[in-house]
Amino acid sequence: MRVESFRVEKWLNEYEHNVEINVSETCIEPFTIGEFLHLMGRENFFNEMWDTQLTYGYIPGSLGLRTGISKLYEGLGPENTLVAGGAIGANFLVFYSLVEPGDNIVSVVPTYQQLYSVARSFGADVKFLRLKMEDGWLPDTDELGRLVDDSTKLIVINNPNNPTGSLIGNEMLKEICEIAEEAGAYLLDDESYRGVYIDPSDRVFSVVELYHNGIATGSFSKPLSLTGLRLGWIAANEDVISKCEDRRDYTTISNGMIDDALATLAVENVERITKRNAEIVRRNYEVLSEWVEEEPLIDWVPPRGGTIAFLRYHLDMTSEELCRRLIDEKSTLLVPGSCFETEGFVRIGWGGDAEKLAEGLSRLKEFLYEHRA
Ligand SMILES: Cc1ncc(COP(=O)(O)O)c(C=O)c1O
Repeated sequence: MRVESFRVEKWLNEYEHNVEINVSETCIEPFTIGEFLHLMGRENFFNEMWDTQLTYGYIPGSLGLRTGISKLYEGLGPENTLVAGGAIGANFLVFYSLVEPGDNIVSVVPTYQQLYSVARSFGADVKFLRLKMEDGWLPDTDELGRLVDDSTKLIVINNPNNPTGSLIGNEMLKEICEIAEEAGAYLLDDESYRGVYIDPSDRVFSVVELYHNGIATGSFSKPLSLTGLRLGWIAANEDVISKCEDRRDYTTISNGMIDDALATLAVENVERITKRNAEIVRRNYEVLSEWVEEEPLIDWVPPRGGTIAFLRYHLDMTSEELCRRLIDEKSTLLVPGSCFETEGFVRIGWGGDAEKLAEGLSRLKEFLYEHRA
């Protein structure tokens, strides 16, 4: 088995704790335990758990947690969900459960590398559907139609998209579902950033609401700001869930009981978290978009979902050289486009502390002017 190294994770692991300004994080400002429990009105949470025995707990996730997750979708029940170790664990489980050597898979690129590298390591033949800046980083569905045929096992998309922040709207999502259905393929959508929209009135379907063989993966890390719980989930039809459950016995047994209880609180009170986070997204997006609009050495397609953006820079250096020099000279961390198979871009994560974001942008500006031709 040949496993490709996971470039974005290697990059972050090397630098994220060694810089003054980290603007590479993709989460919306994670909660402290105190802030979270206060928002939930459950300051006594840990006292209430005093007599809870720390056993394995519920293997697929507690019923309360899976019910809460299922309510994030129209028409699903707890039997359609499975809790995993982060969206990263959820994605892995889907590939581990569905992909066989020689399978044909089509994946969008740029995206989170896990979404195509894991399938390749299991021996699948992965074709890329390249997203282009001139198309607003949205898939060309005609091209998708040409890449897919009866032998396609799985189509992989990521909506909202990391690293570009593009958002596939409902009409295009339906088209993609039709292409998958015609080919008899599963459609996996990594929806880790679902619910984080620049325009709060956006309401985008999940593929699991649109297509019988649509599989959504979700995360407690991004819209729910509970990154440290390391929890995510799969939402799919019962047949897919059962296949994933069979494989999961070999990787997980169960997730932690304390994590499960905290995550249950979160899904039961999603609107409180969404309200807190909508304000962060509004404020930080304003800081970022004003900066980009006034910066001639940078351009972009304004993101519509998630708290990431892909910035095209006008400097004569590779994305990795830019990011390494930005660390050395300005102690500021971005992610090179090369981690996403795309040169000439850097990814910024803008969901964190607003003052740090402003400081990171100001250091990037200095850097750009010190190095322009
Ligand atoms: C698209 C995408 N999927 C999955 C993950 C992993 O998320 P989690 O923290 O839920 O494991 C990330 C993390 O950055 C991501 O961007």
